[in-house]
Amino acid sequence: MKNNDFSLFCLSASVIFFASCSALSPNDPGAEASQNTWNLPLDPFPTKPRVTFNKDGTLKLTVFSDLHYGENPWDDWGPEQDKNSTRLIKRILAEEKPDFAIINGDLVTGENTFRANVTQLLDQIVGPFNLARVPFTATYGNHDNQGNITHFEEILHLQKASRYAYVRSSPAGVGGEGGQGNYWVPIYHTPQDNNPVLILWFFDSRGGVYPNPESNKAMPDWVDSTVGPWIEGEVIKMEAAWGPSTDRAALAFVHIPPHAIQAVQSKVNAQTNPGLNDDKLGSGSVQDSAAVDNDGPFWDSLTSNIKNLRAIISGHDHGNEWCAREPTKNVIFCFNKHSGYGGYDSAGWGHGVRNLLFRTPEPTASVETWIRLEEGEERARVTLDDKYDSTTNH
Ligand SMILES: *[C@@H]1O[C@H](CO)[C@@H](O)[C@H](O)[C@H]1NC(C)=O
Ligand SMILES: *[C@@H]1O[C@H](CO)[C@@H](O)[C@H](O)[C@H]1NC(C)=O
Ligand SMILES: *[C@@H]1O[C@H](CO)[C@@H](O)[C@H](O)[C@H]1NC(C)=O
Repeated sequence: MKNNDFSLFCLSASVIFFASCSALSPNDPGAEASQNTWNLPLDPFPTKPRVTFNKDGTLKLTVFSDLHYGENPWDDWGPEQDKNSTRLIKRILAEEKPDFAIINGDLVTGENTFRANVTQLLDQIVGPFNLARVPFTATYGNHDNQGNITHFEEILHLQKASRYAYVRSSPAGVGGEGGQGNYWVPIYHTPQDNNPVLILWFFDSRGGVYPNPESNKAMPDWVDSTVGPWIEGEVIKMEAAWGPSTDRAALAFVHIPPHAIQAVQSKVNAQTNPGLNDDKLGSGSVQDSAAVDNDGPFWDSLTSNIKNLRAIISGHDHGNEWCAREPTKNVIFCFNKHSGYGGYDSAGWGHGVRNLLFRTPEPTASVETWIRLEEGEERARVTLDDKYDSTTNH
């Protein structure tokens, strides 16, 4: 890498890159020679084992969503819901045996929680992952920003509560107030590889309210505009360290669906886009309730800078399970499955997870995905690839 490029990287560098930038000034003759030290900061979890594909070349991800722990602790049914959710997490981890798991927002129903003990709810969630030794990470939802809890507090607590948590916070200045959950996790083919084959991106759609004493004030419910340039900067660093983006696959997770997904619902049909379609998307159910498209800088950057983006995956709308192609950016979007017994519900929806199965680490390979309910039923299986739900199928 050229020295003048290096100073550019330092300008846009996040907190974790700062130490290496200051140690290697652009005029340092050692900078050119120390390519390997430059690569090191691009492993954002240097103290943790690398997350890898299996020896047979497969990788299974399981996505939990909308667990909503902590509802009405003063009633019997609230704590009973949480016991049920813990039972579901334990059973699914034991039976699905994922290589990596994602908790895609609304871990708690923060508006019902107490300052003194809200983190005990996070401990209840993390317990089964620790017992099953399943590495995992999280995004944060509108119910995780409330009077007595914030996204940042959840991030700090999850980091302490589990050695299996691959949780990080956004660098300073990225994500806006209440939106510290923007980061990525690299997945390698084998532990010895220098370059990852898959990047899992996590974005923070904020929402909810500001913490006490300002809990009467709504927080913006979209990914902040600072995240767009941050994505672009991270991709430049990755290309400098690992080569072209087209060598890697990517998946993106964000709790509230991007604004553009609202328009996709009208073309959803049960053959191409199987799964529940019971939540009509509208005010409050996609990013930016005011319908002004404030998540545009994020959405444009996400869909243009990240190559081989296999899908964008969201929760928030408990009654939807479908996957569909967003035609203007030509990317696939999938809903999660409502996992928690807490949160709004309807008879017959059930509770479960979304699984994603990579059969090879090849960066453009198809990904199989389906919904699994607690009791074992599987449904809405589709194969995500360039042909899936493309215009030629309509
Ligand atoms: C937290 O404290 C409240 C109020 O004292 C109590 O009702 C609730 O059961 C506690 N929750 C947990 C998870 O211990
Ligand atoms: C807990 O799960 C059981 C078994 O599925 C169910 O009958 C019960 O209604 C659930 N309770 C709550 C409060 O969700
Ligand atoms: C937050 O916690 C405090 C003290 O535990 C409690 O009085 C309050 O009702 C809780 N909820 C909210 C939304 O502030």
